[in-house]
Amino acid sequence: VEEDGTRVFELTAQEGTSEFRPGVATPTWGFDGPYLGPTLRAKVGERVAVEVTNDLGEATTVHWHGMHLPPEMDGGPHQMIEPGETWRPTWVIDQPAATLWYHPHPHGRTEQHVYRGLAGMFLLDDPAAAPDLPATYGVDDVPVVVQDKHLDDEGRLTLDRNSTEPGLMGSMVMVNGTVGAYHEVTTERVRLRLLNASTARTYNLGFTDERTFHLVGTDGGLLAEPHETSRVRLSPGERAEVVVELEPGEVATLDSDSPDLGDVAAPAAFGGRDVFEVLELRAAPTLTPSPPVPDVLAEVPRIPESAATVTRELEVAVRMINGRSMDLSRIDEVVTEGATEIWEVRSIDPLTHNFHIHDVQFQVLDVDGEPPPPELAGWKDTVYLEPRRTYRLIMQFADYSDPDSPYMFHCHLLRHEDEGLMGQLVVV
Ligand code: C2O
Ligand code: CU
Repeated sequence: VEEDGTRVFELTAQEGTSEFRPGVATPTWGFDGPYLGPTLRAKVGERVAVEVTNDLGEATTVHWHGMHLPPEMDGGPHQMIEPGETWRPTWVIDQPAATLWYHPHPHGRTEQHVYRGLAGMFLLDDPAAAPDLPATYGVDDVPVVVQDKHLDDEGRLTLDRNSTEPGLMGSMVMVNGTVGAYHEVTTERVRLRLLNASTARTYNLGFTDERTFHLVGTDGGLLAEPHETSRVRLSPGERAEVVVELEPGEVATLDSDSPDLGDVAAPAAFGGRDVFEVLELRAAPTLTPSPPVPDVLAEVPRIPESAATVTRELEVAVRMINGRSMDLSRIDEVVTEGATEIWEVRSIDPLTHNFHIHDVQFQVLDVDGEPPPPELAGWKDTVYLEPRRTYRLIMQFADYSDPDSPYMFHCHLLRHEDEGLMGQLVVV
């Protein structure tokens, strides 16, 4: 922390090697290490700055996914960091406590950069928020970065295992860069901050014994109240915070089992039939008591539909939104500062897509006219699009007008994003 109170982080993107297969060195990229990056953590209301140095052999960017911040600090494709250079964005944390993340966003290269290992979590804390939730980092509050990979015979990471649609369906799943990951649990309850940082795969996370747990948070913060469930679907870029209860001495296995992808053409090609073990929770013979999950978690004021003054329709298809592919020199949507807007997003493909908007957290008003399910009832910045269904999203563009600096919106299946399923918005 500097004298003026700014919390300063340093991140260096660098090359290294990781041992994903015993005795084999796999070339990887990471921030401050060979793979992934440190968890950054700041308090709501704090000013932060990040000194990002690029020690790679090619240009990259670092985007703060889920963060409300000025567009020139956003780390999208217009904020390239050349090799050897340092970029220093700064902003004030002005949103609820949440599990956010950071990753590169160089246009056309995002899939490669994230796949090689450039990603990390960015946690926002509010000491006043739900004090009874487990909150001891690494003990009962655990980051779980879920990614699938495929290694060739030499142990190199490859994106070529399957055909081009929808991107890699890797043959193995790792957590925090570890194959066969486990966590030794010492408390009755443990909070898992689940992040799907895969390039294309959607998971259906739950426990092998189908026990229930509480979903307490989604992309942009805590839910109003916990939702008891046994499975959470997570598409690339989405987060979920869950609290699971364990018995002394037991082993609970987090897995992903046959995600329901909606009405896609060939579910097996999109991972819809795949089953993976993800993380083992190994409970100690005696566990420290944890308080029960509170009945009320946060205030999540609903944005009234009547507040919206603009409705936009966005039709998503391979390589295109509304029939247009990404053009870095074209602004697709112009938003007025202070406006509340409804975006009606619909995938017209029989393929898997999702939809992410920079700068804002939105609320799902309805899906094909039906109220959103509990897992879509809180703040979201990324939503899976079941084919041919209309997702009505409501959001407020409160501030940070800048006609010269766009924010992105796009499919977070990274190959789709790189291939042009992205658009640009400015706030004026
Ligand atoms: Cu997670 Cu536009 O990105
Ligand atoms: Cu897509």
